[in-house]
Amino acid sequence: MSQAIIEVNQLTKQFKAKTAVHKADFKIAKGEIFGLIGQNGAGKSTLLKMIGGLMYPSSGEIHLFNHAVSDNHAYFERMGLLIEDAGLLPHYSAYENLDLIAISYGLKGRKKHINELLKLVGLDESNKTKVKNYSMGMKQRLGIAVALMGSPDVLILDEPINGLDPQGISEVRKLILQLNKTGMTIIISSHILEELSKVATKYAILHEGEVIEINSKEELQLKCEERIEVEVDEARMAIPILEEQLNIKNYKVISDGTVYVYDTHIENHQITKVLVENGISVHSILKHKQSLEQYFLKRTGSEVDSHD
Ligand SMILES: Nc1ncnc2c1ncn2[C@@H]1O[C@H](COP(=O)(O)OP(=O)(O)OP(=O)(O)O)[C@@H](O)[C@H]1O
Ligand SMILES: [Mg+2]
Repeated sequence: MSQAIIEVNQLTKQFKAKTAVHKADFKIAKGEIFGLIGQNGAGKSTLLKMIGGLMYPSSGEIHLFNHAVSDNHAYFERMGLLIEDAGLLPHYSAYENLDLIAISYGLKGRKKHINELLKLVGLDESNKTKVKNYSMGMKQRLGIAVALMGSPDVLILDEPINGLDPQGISEVRKLILQLNKTGMTIIISSHILEELSKVATKYAILHEGEVIEINSKEELQLKCEERIEVEVDEARMAIPILEEQLNIKNYKVISDGTVYVYDTHIENHQITKVLVENGISVHSILKHKQSLEQYFLKRTGSEVDSHD
C-alpha cells in the first residue's frame, strides 16, 4: 500500500444548526484519484474546502504529507484547488489570467511555467481571446491550469464536469488521467458515479455530511457487475455440468456452495434446469445487476433494491 499523503480524522464542519460534514475519516494515497460522490448538499464542497485550506474545520484533524496542518498551514500550499469558481477575469486572455496569478504568487520563470501549463491543458498560448468568449470546457481547463499553478502535489477539483457538454467532459477526463499518469494525486467530486467511475481509483460516498462508504475501484466493480449468483450444496459438482452442458466459461467459485456466472446470455432457468436434471439441488439463483447510479442511489436511500 502506498503512502497516505492525506489523512482526515473525525473532520467536522458545523454551520450553526447545520452539520455539513460529520466526523469524516479517510486516507488518500499518493497517486490516487480519489472520487468523492454525493448528492446536492451532501457536504462535498465543504469537505474539499477544509482539505484545501479554504475553510477551518469545527473539529477533527487534517494531516497532509504526514504532518498535522494545525501545526503548520504551509502544507496547504502543496494543494492546487478548483472549487466552485476559478476566479477568472473575463476581460483578460488565458495567458494574462495565469500571469496575474503567477505574479501574485511571486513565481520565478513565469512565462515558461505558464506556457507549459497552457500546453498541458490544451489551450493555445498565443490565443488572445478573452476568457469571457471561451466555451465552458475551455474555461474549466483554464481553471485546472490555475489550480496547477506553482506545481502542487495534489489537485482538488470540485465537480469539474458540471455544466460541460460531452466533448468538454471528455476533454476534462482526459486531462485528469494524463495528470495522474505524471504521478499527481487528484481528489475529484461529482454527483454522477458513472462519470467518476471513468477516472477514480477509489470512491468515498458522502451522504448528509457522513462518509458512508469507501470502495476501491475493484470493490465497486464487484458490487455493480452483472452476474448470476448460484447457490448449491457443492459448487465443485455443479461446475463441470455448467461447463459441459451450457458451455459456461466465465464463472468464479466464491465459496464451497456459491458460484458466480458471468456469461449473462444464459438465463437463470437454464442453469436451474441442467443442475436439477443432474441431481444437484439449487438453493437459490439470483441475477445481480445494477448500474453504478442505481447502486449509489440505493446506498443514499433514494431507490429500492434492484435485484430481479
Ligand atoms: N457557508 C455556509 N453557511 C451555512 N451553511 C452552509 C454553508 N456552506 C454550506 N452550507 C450547508 O452545508 C451543507 C453542505 O453544503 P456543500 O456545499 O458542502 O454541499 P455539496 O455536496 O457541495 O452540494 P452541491 O452538490 O450542491 O455543490 C448544505 O446543507 C449547505 O446548505
Ligand atoms: Mg458543492
